[in-house]
Amino acid sequence: MSYWTDDPFLKRLIPLATASFLKGLSSSFKSPTILFGHNLLPEGAGLQPPPLNVLAAKLTKKRAFVVTDEFAGRFAKQVVKSLTAAGVTSSIWDKALPEPPINTVKDCGAAMTDFEPDLIVAVGGGSVIDTAKAAWILYEHPELEDLFNLSPFTPFTLRNKAILAVFPTTSGTGSETTGVSVITDPAAHRKVPLASPELMPDYAFLVPEFTKSMPPKLTMGTGLDALSHAWDCACLPASNEITDALALCAIEMIFKWLPRAVEDGEDMEARLKMITAASIAGLAFGQGGISLTHSFGHSLGGLFDIHHGLAVGVFIPYATRYYAPVTHKYLNICKALECKGKTDEESLDNLLHKLKDFFARLGAPWTIRDLGITKEDFQEKMEKLVQYSMDDIQTATSPRPITSAQSEKFLRYAYEGQDIDF
Ligand SMILES: [Fe+2]
Repeated sequence: MSYWTDDPFLKRLIPLATASFLKGLSSSFKSPTILFGHNLLPEGAGLQPPPLNVLAAKLTKKRAFVVTDEFAGRFAKQVVKSLTAAGVTSSIWDKALPEPPINTVKDCGAAMTDFEPDLIVAVGGGSVIDTAKAAWILYEHPELEDLFNLSPFTPFTLRNKAILAVFPTTSGTGSETTGVSVITDPAAHRKVPLASPELMPDYAFLVPEFTKSMPPKLTMGTGLDALSHAWDCACLPASNEITDALALCAIEMIFKWLPRAVEDGEDMEARLKMITAASIAGLAFGQGGISLTHSFGHSLGGLFDIHHGLAVGVFIPYATRYYAPVTHKYLNICKALECKGKTDEESLDNLLHKLKDFFARLGAPWTIRDLGITKEDFQEKMEKLVQYSMDDIQTATSPRPITSAQSEKFLRYAYEGQDIDF
């Protein structure tokens, strides 16, 4: 099996495509229509038509294929009830799996093709949304045999058959506002990102009640995922003024509201703010970039079976210090979080102290050791950790290049909680 991410030419194009000098010549910004609030699926008459009725009016066939999984199935039924009231015929497919395996995506695409919808709806976490996006590509292009070689430089030509609406049930991945779908080749233990502005959903419905059942640890993990999206993006020189503004807004919101959502899952104000913040972070990193938090996080999470949000969140302080010699963009975060010092060094120290206090309040891991990984296991898998991190496409977008030797050192520092000083 081959993957577009292994193509040396395409791999070299990625940093160029995200280079700030090119963005200065031609930049664009895209967003779904985002609806958020406590009354998106109203029952009975209201002052305005229900949002799904407005969406249904745009459909010709009025046939919705609803992708979900066993956890989010009950929320999908709620969405279907509103679609039915809006005159839309729906079919629920509830077999999505975590880390979407390619065969599951193909099954979903085949069921979609049988049903012939003009609306695809995803109700679930990031894996459900990513499954729906990838299956949508297969539905639009039945002739396509190999999703893994679909690079971001290929036109996806979607929307000839259907549009996409998503209802996230977690507050983290941001898949509802990005043009990215990450699918998996289980046989090779490979995750492959499919990326195109065309993959961005047409509608994102942010229903805070759908996130209420997340237990505290999942709320924290998904919140750290959103924080790492916004923080990493804010530190990258490749991001632009629009994505910077969104990333900083998301960071402020997460600092304010994530502790409340973790401490009291029934706090619906905090739930609404967090689902909104995660989507804002998605808009930012999906178009402004993300780097080492995720390349190291993918590698660590995959090898030690650690929740994605915890695995990427733990690298935020180390990536920030690693970037610092080549970019002072962390000063924007200092300003947003009101912790600027007299010098840049003091500002960076203040910022990471503030982050450490925030992690402590959440009970979040600050080091790889805090994740419960023994030194022996860590040592045993070091070679693969380094190799997977170096192979990860997100490493190509780091503002400061990193070698294998530096990656190993980086990981050792992150294990012990030592400040990056190289
Ligand atoms: Fe993430």
